[in-house]
Amino acid sequence: MFGIEFIGTGSYVPEFVADNNKFSEFLDTSDEWITPRTGIKERRILTDKPNYYMGVKAAEAALENAKLDAKDIDLIIVSSCSPDFFYPCMACLIQKDIGAENAACIDVNSACTGFITALDVAQKYLATDHYKTILVVATEKLSAQQDYTDRSMCILFGDAAGAAVVRRSDKEFYSMLGASGDDFEALYCKINYQSNCPFFEDDAPFYNNRFDTHAKKNYLQSDGHAVYKFAVNAMNKAVRNVAEQSGWNIEDIDLVIPHQANLRIIKKATEMLGVDPDKVYTNIQRLGNVSSACIPVALDELNRAGRLHKGMKICFVGFGAGLTYGAIIMEF
Ligand code: COA
Repeated sequence: MFGIEFIGTGSYVPEFVADNNKFSEFLDTSDEWITPRTGIKERRILTDKPNYYMGVKAAEAALENAKLDAKDIDLIIVSSCSPDFFYPCMACLIQKDIGAENAACIDVNSACTGFITALDVAQKYLATDHYKTILVVATEKLSAQQDYTDRSMCILFGDAAGAAVVRRSDKEFYSMLGASGDDFEALYCKINYQSNCPFFEDDAPFYNNRFDTHAKKNYLQSDGHAVYKFAVNAMNKAVRNVAEQSGWNIEDIDLVIPHQANLRIIKKATEMLGVDPDKVYTNIQRLGNVSSACIPVALDELNRAGRLHKGMKICFVGFGAGLTYGAIIMEF
């Protein structure tokens, strides 16, 4: 069993800050409602550039941190559920700007679980020895998928990107990925193809008219209560699974970096697991939910603050649309 080593980390958050009070200017909401229910005080919004711009910035920061040239990268794996193009993949767009001409490029989309998925894919590729130096990027512009007249959802999300350069190591690494496609309607964003194909008919009957396939295309739709319930159980299940694989006790984990969807979800899940709250890192207060970018941005913040030490046992855990979930437990 091969593990992975983080050679460098990077992140990027846009300059524009939308605090809770800014939302009260155009919505019937308030800081008094948002903060106690979500933990979010403010989030960043990329107002004038495409998503991949953030991925490029985070990737450049990770390469600088790793003291590597972009030409040293042989594979780029990008996680994004808010891509700028149907194709090319985000990895190709990032490759172009950073000049990683020797890299193969692939995207993964398991929504907010995406960084865990991408890191797991990287570990598998590294284990085959086919690729030596992999750049993993998660870049998300969730602001582009929000209906800013829907106060229940748009207040939750923001934009950011995180990146890590990884190589194979002998350190321990255990992962699990899970999915419950049956529950996809709890959280989705349907593509609005604007085809003028004269043979097309309404596809609502295909979906048994179970949800509105017309009115809110291109907007994130969610049943917040269903996701909340799923998230708490999924995080619990995923962490217990990787802990069991590793043979480590949950108390042995030095640091937990969870997906940042709601502070109450994080508190409830980690409480059920018996994790010391001091070992759980959160940045949702400043960034909101930035989907798959939550975990790598947190990782970079901790790295730059000098809070990551060799030999630490780190746990990443997340969940998201799909519904998907997953966890990694590894030696840093
Ligand atoms: N401001 C003011 N009032 C709001 C509001 C807002 N931003 N959003 C909802 N409300 C209102 C609702 O309309 C409702 O009013 P009503 O009782 O008159 O109908 C009331 O507040 C309670 O709403 P409810 O949905 O029960 O609140 P909640 O405490 O369950 O919190 C979420 C809602 C969305 C914050 C919570 O369910 C959640 O975080 N779910 C997970 C969603 C998520 O993270 N999805 C992505 C995962 S990757």
